[in-house]
Amino acid sequence: MSKLVLEGRGLRHAYGSTPVLDDVDIALGAGEVVAVMGPSGSGKSTLLHLLAGLLRPSGGEIWLAGERLDTLSERKRSERRLARMGFVFQFGDLVPELTVVENVELPLRLTGVRASRSRARAIAMLDRLGVAEHADKRLSEVSGGQAQRAAVARALVHAPPVILADEPTGALDTTTGELVLEALVGAAKEQKTAVLLVTHELRVASWASRDVLLRDGRIVGGSPGAHEPALMGARRAAEGQGVG
Ligand SMILES: Nc1ncnc2c1ncn2[C@@H]1O[C@H](COP(=O)(O)OP(=O)(O)O)[C@@H](O)[C@H]1O
Ligand SMILES: [Mg+2]
Repeated sequence: MSKLVLEGRGLRHAYGSTPVLDDVDIALGAGEVVAVMGPSGSGKSTLLHLLAGLLRPSGGEIWLAGERLDTLSERKRSERRLARMGFVFQFGDLVPELTVVENVELPLRLTGVRASRSRARAIAMLDRLGVAEHADKRLSEVSGGQAQRAAVARALVHAPPVILADEPTGALDTTTGELVLEALVGAAKEQKTAVLLVTHELRVASWASRDVLLRDGRIVGGSPGAHEPALMGARRAAEGQGVG
């Protein structure tokens, strides 16, 4: 595998006295797209929050780009998140008061990139994702699919080594969801970003090169990429190997 950029070792977590994750090992290499699958309540979002440094594990270790994350202070973890991670959630994580391009610029502005350069990079990423024409609109003026592409642009714009995506197409219809996944996976591969794609849908997981299967807070399996044949073509297209 290529260089590891994010790793969870022996992760455990409990909310109060209720255990939800038990001895979970997971590792992402540069440019790798890994799906975390499992039924609702199996601990997928909890695992993502641990790996993001938003929650501290009750046991185990988290390593981000060679640095142990879970033992850092709250402030340092939040700095690392901003600089080294991008996030895509199901919905509602863009700032409604800002325009599309202002949302996409945020990770750059917050890490000290000057305004003109931030704007240019945000526009370029929106263009890469096919939504540059909506740059100056407010969120209320764009569709769910366009807003989710803007969310993907924001996650990618500072070229972080890792993107964590939690049910990123859960609120979209199938066709729009496929376009958003194609954009996310295609752009992530171009800039060698590792993507953790949390989903309970096989169709979504088929965009990943590998699966990890969670059940009741434990890893119970996974595959090195054996998915429904009908979906393999779309995946190869996203990887630039097929469909000319
Ligand atoms: N903040 C919380 N407080 C208490 N229990 C929680 C909290 N968040 C999630 N849980 C519980 O932890 C388990 C795993 O939840 P979650 O990680 O959200 O699963 P998934 O994302 O796979 O649906 C579920 O039983 C859920 O009810
Ligand atoms: Mg969840």
